[in-house]
Amino acid sequence: MRVLMVCLGNICRSPMAEYVLRHLAEQEGMAGEVRVDSAATSRYQIGETPHMGTRRVLAAHKVRCGNHRARQLTKGDYGRYDLIVGMDEENRYDIMRILGSDPLGKVYLLLDWSEHPRDIADPWYTGDFETTYADVLEGCEALIACLREGRA
Ligand code: 4NP
Repeated sequence: MRVLMVCLGNICRSPMAEYVLRHLAEQEGMAGEVRVDSAATSRYQIGETPHMGTRRVLAAHKVRCGNHRARQLTKGDYGRYDLIVGMDEENRYDIMRILGSDPLGKVYLLLDWSEHPRDIADPWYTGDFETTYADVLEGCEALIACLREGRA
């Protein structure tokens, strides 16, 4: 399963979700089955590394953070991934604007898999990376459970 995490800037939430999902997949012995990457809807931070707040919160929770560089989602990504996963409704709107359509039903929000589907707040504006981490973990745990059971 090839998963593309998407947010506005690709420096806070989506790289966090990329590294958390990869971490969980490794813990579950599913590293070979789950490939994960991330991208932005905007061009604001193209080429930048993950935000210091994201790197700090990942380190605090012992999740390995790689050297991702922000890139923008392209229409061609639709064929390269099985799931395209935004963090909030604004992301979903922008993802659909870039892709044009979703004939295979690949576009979701990360918390769609949780018991309480909702947006993940943007720590670029809130400054609260811990709350974002808790929401990202909730979504990634729910997604990995679905992948393990063949429901995603
Ligand atoms: P992200 O947060 O979408 O979670 O990566 C943001 C990062 C940068 C900006 C906005 C949101 N920005 O305006 O540059």
